[in-house]
Amino acid sequence: MNAQPPAAAAGTIVLGGELLVSRLGFGAMRLTGKEIWGDPPDRAQAIAAVRRAVDLGVNLIDTADSYGPAVSENLIAEALYPYPDDLVVATKGGLVRPGPYRWERDGRPGHLRKACEDSLKRLRLEQIPLYQLHKPDPRVPFGESVGALADLQAEGKIRHIGISTVTVDQLLEAQRAAPIVSVQNRYSAVDGSSQGVLDLCTALGLAFIAWAPVKQTEANSAVAAIAGQRGASHYQVALAWLLAMSPVMLPIPGTASCAHVEANVAAAAFELTAEETAAITACVLRG
Ligand SMILES: NC(=O)c1ccc[n+]([C@@H]2O[C@H](COP(=O)([O-])OP(=O)(O)OC[C@H]3O[C@@H](n4cnc5c(N)ncnc54)[C@H](OP(=O)(O)O)[C@@H]3O)[C@@H](O)[C@H]2O)c1
Repeated sequence: MNAQPPAAAAGTIVLGGELLVSRLGFGAMRLTGKEIWGDPPDRAQAIAAVRRAVDLGVNLIDTADSYGPAVSENLIAEALYPYPDDLVVATKGGLVRPGPYRWERDGRPGHLRKACEDSLKRLRLEQIPLYQLHKPDPRVPFGESVGALADLQAEGKIRHIGISTVTVDQLLEAQRAAPIVSVQNRYSAVDGSSQGVLDLCTALGLAFIAWAPVKQTEANSAVAAIAGQRGASHYQVALAWLLAMSPVMLPIPGTASCAHVEANVAAAAFELTAEETAAITACVLRG
């Protein structure tokens, strides 16, 4: 009998009725240079980190064409291709990088098509398991951007469609344009501004992929206190709290360090009491 990998302690969620993923993912934005631009300072370490995540049972890797740009996707392919059967590479399109400090939106259908086709090549995939619109582009009707992803899905280039950095109204609008299986918004013990979107995802059974799930979470005083009392890091307490917030919660902590990958995956088995969870939640709401 095979032992369960450590990430399995986070529980699982089914994306689009068919892709079973562990509820603890890996954010691959930091497999790049400073300011998410260019090559990582230590390529071997970055490759080792993403491989370690998969070895520990993480099977959703989040990336985007704009990370590097192209660097993160290329590195994922180099590290993991040929991919394990159950691996969900979740990439995004809709942001462009004219320079290191610049992130500009481009949600035009023609751009999204080209971005998706380029991601397919870099990732060496025939179909992207989860393709996410990175951010709504105010210059383009949102339904048109999402509709472009529906066209790519109909052509078989995308298996499932997700959206990112959206409001409740935008999620409802996107659902009218295409079948949406996930939402990726910023959410953590120091940023509860997407609570309404999380609540809707929970009600609808859509995966809620939490970005920036651990950084600065020591600023939540309950997280810091519980970490001290339990001899854990604030990263671990913040992840355990996220996993307790909803059965659709799927945090994607980002790191290029094997040791940090191991610590983050270990958080999947870290149980908070109901009182601890409530204390952290109360600080989020106050914050
Ligand atoms: N959809 C969007 O618009 C959007 C925006 C931003 C990010 N994202 C996605 O979300 C993922 C996560 O976001 P993020 O990287 O900004 O924030 P994050 O995961 O909350 O924090 C990353 C930072 O925390 C550190 N860290 C992580 N685990 C640690 C540990 N166990 N111990 C010590 N330090 C640790 C990392 O440093 P080290 O490298 O030193 O470990 C890094 O500086 C990204 O990789 C990306 O996939 C999406």
